[in-house]
Amino acid sequence: MWIRTRKGWEIPEREATPESAYYNRRELLTAAGLLAAPALAAPALAVAAPKRNEKYTLDRPITEEWAATGYNNYYEFNPYAKEGLAALTSEFVISPWKIEISGQVNKPQTLDLDDLLKKFPIEERLYRFRCVERWAMAVPWSGFPLSELIKLVEPKPAAKYLRFVTVNRPNQMPGMKQAPYPWPYFEGLRMDEAMNELTLLSTGIYGKPLPKQNGAPVRLVVPWKYGYKSIKSIVKIEFTSSEPPTFWNKLNAQEYGFYSNIDPKKPHPRWSQAVEQLIPSMQRKPTLLYNGYEQYVASMYKGNEF
Ligand code: MTE
Repeated sequence: MWIRTRKGWEIPEREATPESAYYNRRELLTAAGLLAAPALAAPALAVAAPKRNEKYTLDRPITEEWAATGYNNYYEFNPYAKEGLAALTSEFVISPWKIEISGQVNKPQTLDLDDLLKKFPIEERLYRFRCVERWAMAVPWSGFPLSELIKLVEPKPAAKYLRFVTVNRPNQMPGMKQAPYPWPYFEGLRMDEAMNELTLLSTGIYGKPLPKQNGAPVRLVVPWKYGYKSIKSIVKIEFTSSEPPTFWNKLNAQEYGFYSNIDPKKPHPRWSQAVEQLIPSMQRKPTLLYNGYEQYVASMYKGNEF
């Protein structure tokens, strides 16, 4: 049997590099179109995996990556299915990416996401993530606290809320033409919620850039609220003096409120919220008040904001 001996410089990249750094680099190069032509040699770009912030711990195993990236709610790509969304995202362009910051701030500006990422160190945090539909996951998010961005733009005293808007690209997001929803997706937080240490602007999961179906290139993560508050592919953040309308509240105000804080005792009008089911095993677990983040967030609420 002929065994070809590999020369030193022929070590596959995945053996020479920790997996997360290898994939980070591949994602970046693919996003930049650099891997499109096989003849192009990959430049030696060192992209370090984000450092985990050990303060945030889990009471359950991290969800398998294939499940968290293969079972999604992203209505702009498909309002009727949660599986197979990745295959629908090929036309969606995520680089370059700009975020417009406007409204009640001293320094309104349009920021390039790459510049923003140079300003703030990216860290990894393990958070529970709970959808209003009762499925739950535990995800290693990477990103930076939204509070850092808020400080950068200097809110005026009149700024009491933040309004977030998703990109509006019906030609790249096929689901937008399939359902008559009030596109683009929009969400909101109260200023103290936005400043809370748990609230992240996330740019990655599992040590890699966010897959498009998970909200690339940048999304919100608000782990004590139902998942629909965690708006994906953000292009606009507006600081407002009154409570902004939200997508699901506009579609069905009886079922989806502004606060949407997780409370096992407050049923959805059509189902109980007492129990959740872990993806992908569907193992049942009691739902935790504020998704288990009571110590971080309960002081913001007087008891009736759910
Ligand atoms: N953001 C946008 N723009 N469009 C969406 O359809 N779905 C929301 C939220 N953010 C959604 C969105 C809902 S209902 C949930 S549960 C989470 O994203 C799902 O995030 P995941 O797919 O990464 O698990």
